Amino acid sequence: MELNKLTAQEVAEMIQDGDDIGLSGFTPAGVPKMVPHAISEKALREHEAGRPFKINVYTGASTGQSCDGDLTNAQAIHFRAPYTTNKDFRRHVNADELEYQDMNLSNMATQLRQGNLGNVDWAIIEVSDIDIIGDKAQLYLTAAVGISPTVCRMAKKGIFLEYNLHHAGKMRGIHDVYEVEYHPYRTPINMTGPMDRIGKPYIEIPVDKIRGVVECNIADEARSFTAPSDTTDQIGQNVANFLLDNLRNGLIPKTFLNIQSGVGSTANAVLGAMGNCEEIPNFGIYTEVLQNSAVELLLSGRVTGASACSLTITDAELQKIYANIEFFKKHLILRPSEISNNPEVIARIGVCAMNTAIEADIYGHVNSTKICGTKMMNGIGGSADFTNNAYLSIFSCGSTTKEGKISSIVPFCSHIDHTSHFVDAVITEYGVADLRGIGDMERAKRMIAIAHPDYRPMLNEYLTLAAKYGGEVHHVLSAAFAMHDTFRRKGDMHLTDWSEYIKD
Ligand code: COA
Repeated sequence: MELNKLTAQEVAEMIQDGDDIGLSGFTPAGVPKMVPHAISEKALREHEAGRPFKINVYTGASTGQSCDGDLTNAQAIHFRAPYTTNKDFRRHVNADELEYQDMNLSNMATQLRQGNLGNVDWAIIEVSDIDIIGDKAQLYLTAAVGISPTVCRMAKKGIFLEYNLHHAGKMRGIHDVYEVEYHPYRTPINMTGPMDRIGKPYIEIPVDKIRGVVECNIADEARSFTAPSDTTDQIGQNVANFLLDNLRNGLIPKTFLNIQSGVGSTANAVLGAMGNCEEIPNFGIYTEVLQNSAVELLLSGRVTGASACSLTITDAELQKIYANIEFFKKHLILRPSEISNNPEVIARIGVCAMNTAIEADIYGHVNSTKICGTKMMNGIGGSADFTNNAYLSIFSCGSTTKEGKISSIVPFCSHIDHTSHFVDAVITEYGVADLRGIGDMERAKRMIAIAHPDYRPMLNEYLTLAAKYGGEVHHVLSAAFAMHDTFRRKGDMHLTDWSEYIKD
């Protein structure tokens, strides 16, 4: 059967104001690029003609510039969920120009399935291959799975495919597509290890749902990583030493744990450092996003197998996978986000969750999404999916940022994504605050000990002032955000005089 070939502009013409669009991909990996960009151009034309045009966008996670960036610059998004990290999107959302809902990424497909976000009108899916067998089409995805199976099934008006020749013929056998059932008919997810396959290597849909195919040849718009610095190297070393201590003390099994590694440059460097630590046994990865360092560890054999939702890697790294595809078919599985991040599976197989904090407070709460509690930096991603269900949950971050003007250890997080109940340890370049099996005031001491030396006296002074107010957890409520407020007013968190924040 011949599929209808369309241009991206022809597809954009079929998308109407108010339509709900479900996209393939997860991070810039596997996201359609031509059609979202064409929709942004249509939005500009419609607005110029004085007509309203905004769509609702549902994705697995963030996308790339041609999607989140161009669409928000064209004021073409009414509502978007979940995670995003694009600088233009961030600028527009922080100017309160659109509706945005962050959520745990394991839950996105479920939220759609339950109808909490409305309908899905169209699915726009990047594919590497399409097989037509009778009245069925088998879609082979590219560098990510995300929520593609769910939006393909739910799309009421139809599915557009971006057939990306950059990946054509290279991705067969990497994906494991499995969708959970509707409540109350859910059954256990039959996995006991990261390399278990439970689904099919493709998404199967009725062929008549495909409304058109747009051909392209474009690499993913992945960002490169900041090269490791002395700080990230030291954090990585501290993480590796902490895990080794746990191993030696019998706190983690001799066979080690499956590693989940978060997003960003710090996480990339931490995983690299773990791989270099010879005393740590070879390990498996059960994670959401594979970054560059994981590909190298797979190739070297340090990582025995990796399950993820996306390959958030540079194109050079992707080409290494394609050059060794038979090896990677045995050692790498890409899954839908509701499986890669599934709480049931994470809790069962034993995962060490290693995520990055924007800030952590002296009692071990963690903010990983909002700068000074108000400005969206990124979404929560899968960090809570993993942290809340892991065998061991670690957060790491540099002790300061912005040339030392901001301390990552603060009296009270200005926004909390991860409560202290789920945070086992916080690690900076100054050491490890092991928060297990101790009370809140001992936590505060350990957290201050890993703050930058410049900020330790300030944090200790806060604790001394807070002691006057007593309680199981000590705080001066009127001064809890004094460091943030000082940064807001003076561009630097260094606070010399707490008295103006003490009200009685
Ligand atoms: N106050 C203000 N800005 C801060 C800050 C703070 N306390 N901490 C970090 N930042 C800024 C940095 O200065 C940097 O800014 P820049 O882009 O202008 O240079 C930016 O945030 C990124 O910080 P960086 O130290 O380079 O961290 P990173 O690349 O390792 O990313 C997170 C850190 C928290 C942003 C990232 O891990 C994230 O998005 N986490 C949430 C999602 C998640 O954990 N997913 C895991 C999936 S399984």
